[in-house]
Amino acid sequence: SQELIKKLEETIENFPDFPIPGIQFKDISPVFLDPKLYEDVIADLVAFSKGKVDAVCGIESRGYLFGIAIAVALEVPFILIRKKGKLPPPIVSEKYDLEYGSAEIETREGQIKKGQRILIHDDLLATGGTTEAVARLVEKQGATVSQFSFLIGLKDLNGEEKLKPFNAEVYHILEY
Ligand code: PRP
Ligand code: MG
Repeated sequence: SQELIKKLEETIENFPDFPIPGIQFKDISPVFLDPKLYEDVIADLVAFSKGKVDAVCGIESRGYLFGIAIAVALEVPFILIRKKGKLPPPIVSEKYDLEYGSAEIETREGQIKKGQRILIHDDLLATGGTTEAVARLVEKQGATVSQFSFLIGLKDLNGEEKLKPFNAEVYHILEY
């Protein structure tokens, strides 16, 4: 709602050139100081996904902050998508390119199940590189990416373009 967007805009702080020049860092930590606002964020994200997904994949680490609450409210499993090297085998993994070099995300084999409709959730969509890799991982497991949700989308970075091939619904509460 307009009211929720306004409250979040007042609450989320922007830090230009952090952690490196050119990046506009959005600090979401003040959201967690306000339990009522947190509840309203979860309710909004839950409304988007209600009845439409069989499991939620949350992306380490800020994707966990809202993702678990969304999954619990939807009464569906929550699957941790982790950064490389944190999980014992057997795992499945997916590499993706960064501006310099590459990164890798991993999840426990067997937690994403064939045929499931998956919501991929993260706090923020920037270039879309991370989210796209997670979507590839989900499809590799024989599941379908049904939805993507974010608190924030950064429109100048065109992250949504990378998500188009998955033919899934995309939602963010606010956009900068
Ligand atoms: C940030 C953010 C998203 C990702 C978006 O996470 O939380 O996960 O970057 O970037 P992209 O769309 O360009 O891929 P970060 O890697 O900083 O780690 P964190 O969540 O553990 O803080
Ligand atoms: Mg992150």
